[in-house]
Amino acid sequence: MKFKKNILCIGAGYVGGPTMAMIAYKCPRYRITVVDVNPTRIAEWNSDDLPIYEPGLGEIVKATRGKNLFFSTDIEGGIRDNDIIFVSVNTPTKTFGAGAGMAADLQYWEKTARQILQYSQSSKIVIEKSTLPVKTALAMERILNYTKSSLSFDVLSNPEFLAEGSAMTDLENPDRILIGCQDTKSGLAAREALVEIYANWVPREKIITSNIWSSELSKIVSNAFLAQRISSINAISALCEKTDADITEVAKAVGMDSRIGSKYLNASVGFGGSCFKKDILNLVYLCRHYSLHDVADYWESVVRINQYQQERFVLNMLTAMFNTLAGKKICLFGFAFKANTGDTRESPAICITRRLLEEKAEIIITDPKALKNAKADLAGVDGKVSFIEDPYKAAEGCHAIAILTEWDLYRNLDFQKIYDNMTKPASIFDGRNIIDHKRCFDIGFNVYPTGKPALTQS
Ligand code: UDX
Ligand code: ADP
Repeated sequence: MKFKKNILCIGAGYVGGPTMAMIAYKCPRYRITVVDVNPTRIAEWNSDDLPIYEPGLGEIVKATRGKNLFFSTDIEGGIRDNDIIFVSVNTPTKTFGAGAGMAADLQYWEKTARQILQYSQSSKIVIEKSTLPVKTALAMERILNYTKSSLSFDVLSNPEFLAEGSAMTDLENPDRILIGCQDTKSGLAAREALVEIYANWVPREKIITSNIWSSELSKIVSNAFLAQRISSINAISALCEKTDADITEVAKAVGMDSRIGSKYLNASVGFGGSCFKKDILNLVYLCRHYSLHDVADYWESVVRINQYQQERFVLNMLTAMFNTLAGKKICLFGFAFKANTGDTRESPAICITRRLLEEKAEIIITDPKALKNAKADLAGVDGKVSFIEDPYKAAEGCHAIAILTEWDLYRNLDFQKIYDNMTKPASIFDGRNIIDHKRCFDIGFNVYPTGKPALTQS
């Protein structure tokens, strides 16, 4: 069968994989190839055991793989044979040199730009999907158009706003699709080619366009605003604990103001994930670069509060457990940075585990999807850590449970059974406010919610 469009995606990660699967699913007349430097990852995409867990993804991959969706390590062939190229390689925070700990590490991204230049035999539309600092698309265009060949490259910014755990529904019903382009004849034509792809299933009024820098900045700012809401509610949760106010009641009252809205007001152990911290630090770096130090300080405080919230959680545990955790067994319910994903990047659980180990506690970790990543994150740490998938077994003999991920599974456990098998006094620290606190207190637990008065047996 002759396909209407041939599309390549470089980078088969949390963004590239699900996004391309959705395009393949919605556009059976397009042929989509996803390439990656990592052969293990590609082998997993081609197996029944996909490299990432995302509700609904497996079904869509099954329906499209081998028909119009292909996973491959042949980057060179992919670039040669496709004229529309999405780039969704990783852009972590730099760990070395200038901007270390702040700026985006663009080495993977630049390598990709050079590969596109090296292997192209025809003109290309290159679509920046990874979150990147403002002006990166322009830099890519400069690399690509550096040699005076007859080929031309148009770079578009098309940030992905999907959230993990709900990626497939976010992709199917996005709030908006944003496309930034250069205001040139070929830039506008490239934009139209991309609009045509999304218009297969996204209503036109949701496909918005802007200049390329606005598009790049909008992505970073969206994440900064979302993270800021979480830090705001978490900051207030600390105040609630001191004043006997209840953060859930406060969030409800505040969120019912239609100007504020009710989403992203769940107090927690702090936000994690690959984007929020990285993007805010990117924003901070950008502001400092332009000597906007007050603006930079403002956004940096969002990350500071997030760290504070994690540290506060550990100190609350320490205080509640007679100021010593040494030799005590603590079971962590959840290691993923949020529910419905196995992803643990920047998960608060990592920092909390390390801190508890510093206090010489023994840690037992349970999680329905993230244990493989948890083991990798904690490889080589000093101290006693074990991993048990069954939450009942994991909690056996423990002095305390800390709920770190809001998995539905944890809402409906038989807490009487759990309590009966724990060391007494048994405590629960609910870092997500997902369980019935009163019920657990009645069973006999000391219960420490987030941003609410503790329920302690006297
Ligand atoms: C985020 C953005 O939502 C998405 O648009 C962007 O494309 C990528 O970054 P993601 O990191 O996958 O998505 O998850 P998100 O649902 O936003 O949650 C981020 C973190 O905030 C999680 O650790 C989550 O548990 C935490 N969170 C979220 C809270 O602590 N409280 C809330 O009310 C909401
Ligand atoms: P994201 O959450 O942004 O999707 P991931 O780390 O999950 O980030 O995925 C990025 C993917 O990009 C990884 O699978 C990585 O192997 C791949 N990658 C990085 N550099 C290149 C490159 N030059 N060519 C192809 N794939 C690359």
